[in-house]
Amino acid sequence: MPVCVVVGMQWGDEGKGKIIDLLTEQADVVARYQGGHNAGHTIVFDGNKFILHLIPSGIFHKDKLCIIGNGVVIDPSALAEEMRKLEQAGFDFEGKLVISDRANIILPYHQISDVQKEGASGDKKIGTTGRGIGPSYADKISRMGLRTCDFLDENRLRESLGAHYEEKKNVLKNLYGEDLPELGALFNQMAGYREMFVKYLGNTHKILHREIENDKRILCEGAQGTMLDVDHGTYPFVTSSNPTAGGACTGLGIPPNKIDKVIGVVKAYTTRVGEGPFPTELHDADGDLLRKEGDEFGATTGRPRRCGWFDAVVGKYAVDLNGIDQVTLTKVDVLDQLDTIRVCTGYKYKGAELDGLPADPVVLANCEPVYTEYPGWKTRTSGIQSFDLLPDNAKRYIDGLEKHLGVGFVLISTGPDRTETIRQGDLF
Ligand code: GDP
Ligand code: IMO
Ligand code: MG
Repeated sequence: MPVCVVVGMQWGDEGKGKIIDLLTEQADVVARYQGGHNAGHTIVFDGNKFILHLIPSGIFHKDKLCIIGNGVVIDPSALAEEMRKLEQAGFDFEGKLVISDRANIILPYHQISDVQKEGASGDKKIGTTGRGIGPSYADKISRMGLRTCDFLDENRLRESLGAHYEEKKNVLKNLYGEDLPELGALFNQMAGYREMFVKYLGNTHKILHREIENDKRILCEGAQGTMLDVDHGTYPFVTSSNPTAGGACTGLGIPPNKIDKVIGVVKAYTTRVGEGPFPTELHDADGDLLRKEGDEFGATTGRPRRCGWFDAVVGKYAVDLNGIDQVTLTKVDVLDQLDTIRVCTGYKYKGAELDGLPADPVVLANCEPVYTEYPGWKTRTSGIQSFDLLPDNAKRYIDGLEKHLGVGFVLISTGPDRTETIRQGDLF
């Protein structure tokens, strides 16, 4: 019963899309368990580049089942747009995609609240993607959300939309001076998406249990990353879901004792989009070089990503918190031009060394990283497919990262394309 969870080990954008697409070769099912279209997962093959936001990263493989789990929040317009683009590119979903009938919906007022709240927060803003993720999860927890199953019946949809309409309308008007469309118009807009996705709705946890029973191989796809986890990340500068491995159990309805393995995805340096503490952030030429060579601009919003050195405190935290068995390392090639590469192995706060990650974001923001230095390799590694062909200093750096994390690398990525990969073992 091989069930494997794939989780981001930093602040997202570690290269999960590429890794999950690659691992799908060895799997039967790929299931997304949390987040929404705040995610941007990039997949490059045969000269094509696709950025997925809601559709699981296994969709480009034939005969694999893709599942959007109950833990995901779905904006019907974003889903429709993503499906339309993929269909235009020649991919289809019939018999390949099942969407949980229990997933919560992102409604237009969630997006308005997200953008308005951020706008009103000044220097206290989170730097969200403005997709309505937080407000939609807030309504889910407050038991005020709309779910995919509400779309099965028109009357039910009308009723569910009406249930909290007046409250939402008043809040938007009074807090932000924004007008909500009339209930009838909102209903028509939502009803317009019924045809698009009702046919894909199903009881996904039941399907997953059946597949597990039949010894099928299941990849659980995490979005965002450990440091953006609402419980374990740099709160409040986090997303509103649980990207950590446990999120796969609640977000898909897979019992914890059926999870066999957890694979972490980590970048050879660190990036972060949006606000919040980032101890190893660089504000110099090395940071600019990482951004340029790594093409570090958001896959969802196009924002420049903040760049910095590899943070092994964060890495080890992710290993421990998620129970990571194997790690996949990405973007080694981005470091090719650096003279010296630094790795943060500890934090100092007011002169004293801290034991791991502090809970308080203000303390984290004022930590001084303790660094170990590695000599650069100043040689092109892009596209290398064998560990033996890497320059010695790259091998030393990679071995060093493995030691800092205490876990081996099952796969090392040397470029965005599927083929630009060093494979060091099998997943299942
Ligand atoms: P995700 O959100 O974790 O799926 O990551 P993103 O797709 O947002 O960001 C990762 C970016 O790095 C994408 O543009 C990928 O195409 C690219 N990428 C992935 N692996 C590598 C690699 O090994 N080297 C380089 N240069 N780019 C990579
Ligand atoms: P993938 O799956 C990187 C960040 C936002 C912001 C914070 C909260 O591509 O790795 P939200 O819109 O979720 O309320 O924003 O989380 N964020 C991401 N950063 N990669 C992502 O997804 C992200 N999804 C959200 O920038 O700081
Ligand atoms: Mg991304």
